[in-house]
Amino acid sequence: MADYITVDVDRDAIPRHVGIIMDGNGRWANARDLHRTQGHAAGEPALFDVVHGALELGVKWLTVYTFSTENWDRDEFEVSFLMQFNVDLLERRRDELNELGVRVIFMGDIEDDRVPEILRDRIHSAEELTSDNTTMTMVFAFNYGGRVEIVDAVRHIAAAVANGSLSADDIDESMLSRNLYLADMPDPDLIIRTSGEHRTSNFLLWQAAYSEYVFTSVLWPDFDRDELARCISEYQQRDRRYGGAVDRSPT
Ligand code: FPP
Repeated sequence: MADYITVDVDRDAIPRHVGIIMDGNGRWANARDLHRTQGHAAGEPALFDVVHGALELGVKWLTVYTFSTENWDRDEFEVSFLMQFNVDLLERRRDELNELGVRVIFMGDIEDDRVPEILRDRIHSAEELTSDNTTMTMVFAFNYGGRVEIVDAVRHIAAAVANGSLSADDIDESMLSRNLYLADMPDPDLIIRTSGEHRTSNFLLWQAAYSEYVFTSVLWPDFDRDELARCISEYQQRDRRYGGAVDRSPT
């Protein structure tokens, strides 16, 4: 891994918010006759190299999918490994993230009974320690699902209608956005998925309405800051029209 980005990328057109579906840890491990959990462990240096790359480029929001609401269906050993891994990672890395000026936020159902108490505690400490940082916000989508996030927002809004404080006629898109887990998070400009899979897998469903997707066959443990820059460079070739028409007027 290089210490600085070596890929050519337009540093004046960096996406403000990058989301990443970090996929392929299990396949990376299988290919080396290792246990799947060793693939997750190998994903940590990749993730932190990407954090450094994102900071070098000036990305303001980085959201990573660390555990989905569907991941509870994995075998018990893998699930408990991932819980403990998150605890260890927060203990090992929170000071580094803090020194880098990164604000850490967890997005998802942290209060779920299946989330170990010690992990909840480490999450709260990391969030508190880094809460004043402004260089970049790193969102850990953990026990996160895009559909349940929308359902939760609808429940809040419906409760306000039921108690008479809101009229159903006043519900609009921006109200729904404000009722998602992180009301101040800008929509992602770019969503990257590694490992050659071409699915959204319940990641930022509402927020991704106009995001550009970049899919790469690189398995997550092999991803690094140069791969991030390559994905951003591909994003920079796209013509974002937000549903508008292509401008075909003569120049
Ligand atoms: C998907 O790969 C990855 C996960 C479910 C876990 C993500 C965890 C990391 C990248 C480790 C480092 C980061 C944190 C914050 C804990 P997969 O297991 O679905 O791979 P496969 O599709 O090849 O089986």
